[in-house]
Amino acid sequence: MSEPHVTDFDARAATWDDAQKVERAENVAAAIRRAVPLTRSMRALEYGAGTGLLSFRLRNALGPITLADSSAGMRAVAEQKIAAAAAREMRVIDLDLMRDPVPPERFDLIFSMMTLHHVTDVPRLFAAFHSMLNPGGWLSIADLDAEDGSFHGPEVQVHHGFERRTLTSWLETAGFADAAVGDCCEIEHHARRYSIFLATARRI
Ligand SMILES: C[S@@+](CC[C@H](N)C(=O)[O-])C[C@H]1O[C@@H](n2cnc3c(N)ncnc32)[C@H](O)[C@@H]1O
Repeated sequence: MSEPHVTDFDARAATWDDAQKVERAENVAAAIRRAVPLTRSMRALEYGAGTGLLSFRLRNALGPITLADSSAGMRAVAEQKIAAAAAREMRVIDLDLMRDPVPPERFDLIFSMMTLHHVTDVPRLFAAFHSMLNPGGWLSIADLDAEDGSFHGPEVQVHHGFERRTLTSWLETAGFADAAVGDCCEIEHHARRYSIFLATARRI
């Protein structure tokens, strides 16, 4: 994980939204709604939001949502979708917590889908998320369970999913309470099925 990954999200952004990814976002949104008591007064951040598939499925249950992503191409597509929907409560920012300082704004919920395995230093990311949450705030992350590397193939440098007990320990080390990692859904990729967890924790 010392070299940058080679997945070109800028190039993939225009064709990112397809039926399979929409279904994935719907399943993850349903799991987050079950795990976290969402309210319209919550200020939320989606990290690695891509084109905003997940945020669009949670927007009617939340207050303002900030969509953060390091890919200019993904951000441009998210901006277009927000403009088309006249979703004035949503905004897009350029943020890479491996590169940028922790922003001063605080949130009541940080959520993320299929981004964690692209982030080199996950313990550092969790520490940043902890400091970006208000007391009582929630973290909710969906990503791949540990897999054999076949999801991306050998040419892409990413985490090959995560062991649940490792995630729990990283969350606790970052200062989170009530860390729990449960089943979220499955996704089909390259004619195989991969299991997705939902990790939830709170800042107290
Ligand atoms: C697999 S895509 C998932 C996008 C979206 N969450 C979804 O599921 O449709 C991973 C996203 O994370 C973004 N990303 C990767 N590394 C990042 C980092 N260090 N900071 C912020 N965003 C990152 C990529 O640009 C990309 O949009």
